[in-house]
Amino acid sequence: MPPAGPARTAAGTDPGRDAGAKQAGEIAVTGLTKVYETKKSRFEALAPIDLTVGANAFVTIVGPSGCGKSTLLRIVAGLDEPTDGSVLLDGEEVVGPGAERGMVFQGYTLFPWLTVRENIEYGPKLKGVSTLERRAISSHYLKVIKLESFANAYPKQLSGGMKQRVAIARALANRPKVLLMDEPFGALDAQTKLEMQELLLEVWEKEKTTVLFITHDIEEAVFLSQRIVVMGAHPGRILKTFDVALPARRTPEVRELPGFLALKRELGALLKH
Ligand SMILES: Nc1ncnc2c1ncn2[C@@H]1O[C@H](COP(=O)(O)OP(=O)(O)OP(=O)(O)O)[C@@H](O)[C@H]1O
Ligand SMILES: [Mg+2]
Repeated sequence: MPPAGPARTAAGTDPGRDAGAKQAGEIAVTGLTKVYETKKSRFEALAPIDLTVGANAFVTIVGPSGCGKSTLLRIVAGLDEPTDGSVLLDGEEVVGPGAERGMVFQGYTLFPWLTVRENIEYGPKLKGVSTLERRAISSHYLKVIKLESFANAYPKQLSGGMKQRVAIARALANRPKVLLMDEPFGALDAQTKLEMQELLLEVWEKEKTTVLFITHDIEEAVFLSQRIVVMGAHPGRILKTFDVALPARRTPEVRELPGFLALKRELGALLKH
C-alpha cells in the first residue's frame, strides 16, 4: 500500500483546520461491471464503465431510471462490490466505506434523537476528535449551511431543505475529499431546490471537495456541473459525456443563457431515446 500523502495526513490529524488545505480527491473508475445473479437469472446492471472524476471537479450523472446510477455510486462509496473492475481514490483502491467519501442521499438520514449540532458532530465524535475541536467543526459547518440558529433543534423541527442542509454538513464534518450525492434534492419543492443548488455550489467552492452527483433533473445537472455523464440502460453504460461550457460562477442568470438552454435541449433529446 502506498504511504499516505501529506494532504491526507494533514486532514487526518487536524480535522478542524481551514478547508483550503485539503487536496486531491480524484476518482478513477476502470472497467467496472456489476452483475446481479441468482440461481435462475443473471442481470447485467453495469457494463464496463470507465470514468475519471478529477480532483475538485463537479460531475453529474443523468440517465433513465434503472440504468445503474445508484449502483455505480454505491460501488464508489464502498457500500457495494463491483463484479469486475476497480475504483481508485487518489490511486488507492476503494474496498469499503470511508470517511474520505461523504454521502448524501435523498432520504434524510439524520439521527432523530440528536440535535442538529450533534448530528454534524457525529462523524468526528466516532473518530475520537476532542469535544472542543468538534464544537469548532460543527460551528464552522452550521455557518456554511446557514443554520446557526438551529444548532440545538431536533430534526423533526426542521423543513425538508433544512434537513438536507444538515445532511450535507454532517458529511462535510468528516472532511471528505469526495461528496457522493444521489438525488439529494429530489424530494424538495422547486424553490427550495434552487436555493439548495446555489448553496451546494458555494460549499463546493469553499470546501474544495470533489462532487459526484446524481439527478433526474436535467436543468439541475446543467446548472451545477462542469461535466455531465449520460448513462443508458440494458446494460447500464455511459452513452455520452458533455463538458459544460458555461461561466464558472453560476449565477441565476446563467439559466437564461443560450448555451444553457441548448445543452438542456440536447440532453433532453438524448434521454428521450
Ligand atoms: N440488489 C439488487 N439485486 C438485483 N438487482 C438489483 C439490485 N440493485 C439494483 N438492481 C437492479 O439494477 C438496476 C440498476 O439499479 P439502480 O438502482 O442502480 O438504478 P438507478 O439508475 O439508480 O435508477 P433510479 O433512477 O430509479 O434511481 C435496476 O434494474 C435494478 O433493478
Ligand atoms: Mg437511483
